[in-house]
Amino acid sequence: MWSQAQPNIALVKYWGKRDVARNLPAVGSLSITLDALYSRMSVDFLENRGLDELVVNGEENSAMLSRVSGCIDRIAGNDRPAARIQSESNFPLAAGLASSASAFAALVLATCESVNQTADTLAMARIAGSVSGSAARSFYGGFVELAAGDENIDVWSIVGPEDWPLKVVVAITETGPKPLSSGEAMIRCAKTSPFYDSWVERQPDDLAAAREAVDKRDFEQLAAVSEHNCLKMHSVMWASRPPVVYWNNATIACMETVRDLQKKSEPVFFTIDAGPQLKAVCLPSAEETVRDALSDTAGVVTTLVSGLGYGARVLEQS
Ligand code: PMV
Repeated sequence: MWSQAQPNIALVKYWGKRDVARNLPAVGSLSITLDALYSRMSVDFLENRGLDELVVNGEENSAMLSRVSGCIDRIAGNDRPAARIQSESNFPLAAGLASSASAFAALVLATCESVNQTADTLAMARIAGSVSGSAARSFYGGFVELAAGDENIDVWSIVGPEDWPLKVVVAITETGPKPLSSGEAMIRCAKTSPFYDSWVERQPDDLAAAREAVDKRDFEQLAAVSEHNCLKMHSVMWASRPPVVYWNNATIACMETVRDLQKKSEPVFFTIDAGPQLKAVCLPSAEETVRDALSDTAGVVTTLVSGLGYGARVLEQS
């Protein structure tokens, strides 16, 4: 049995933990789930009690094993047989493309199916969120809001993928893994960035503006609040000690490309996560122009285009 989940891209970002041990977010967030990129997982329990085996895109992977095993323990308990986990993704991993979101959403779903404990979607989203905050959002499709609740995270879809079918062009500027995980970077920002408290304080305003923009299908309003929220998150990172800088020259060149397109009235805006890739969100009419312009930008290795998609699901048996 294989499960599949797609990455999601936050327009109002989750950045900061209210409770590090339980991985509860300090701020709410709002994201879009993609359809063209995916992570697929299968979890098979073996007869013995030895170590788990993780195979990612056909190769043994020990780097992610402890996080993956810990996630399976949360569902199947510590006293369980060893598991063989197979994972396949059609995009670069750990490079700021939200691979942990799709991977952990798919892993939780595959594990629950394997132990016949398919819980309701929110319960599974909470388990995934306790491993990677953004993974909770990949259980839902379209525009998704995740609230920084009290005891538990709360997450739901606000508008379905076909109700406002935006497009996303991802400009990949580097395919290697990122230098610092988002979890470590968030903790550093909370401890050392002088802008962190004001970031947390103002997040409800950005969320309200984004939610309203989505409800009204107001692209300009969504563009303004998303770019502002993204640049604010990166300002928190840049001002931490030592600074956290995920961008490279091509990331900045891509921002200029998007600015040039906006000057020509193209309906497009950018967002950037914990990595050097730029994600350009646009109306379908602008997709080709945006893709061509980003492909021609210095330092862009390749571009990927996606529409909006649905939440995590079990794949039909083949
Ligand atoms: O879920 P994590 O721990 O990989 O953190 C995600 C952080 C950002 O991608 C930068 C923002 C977000 O809301 O997805």
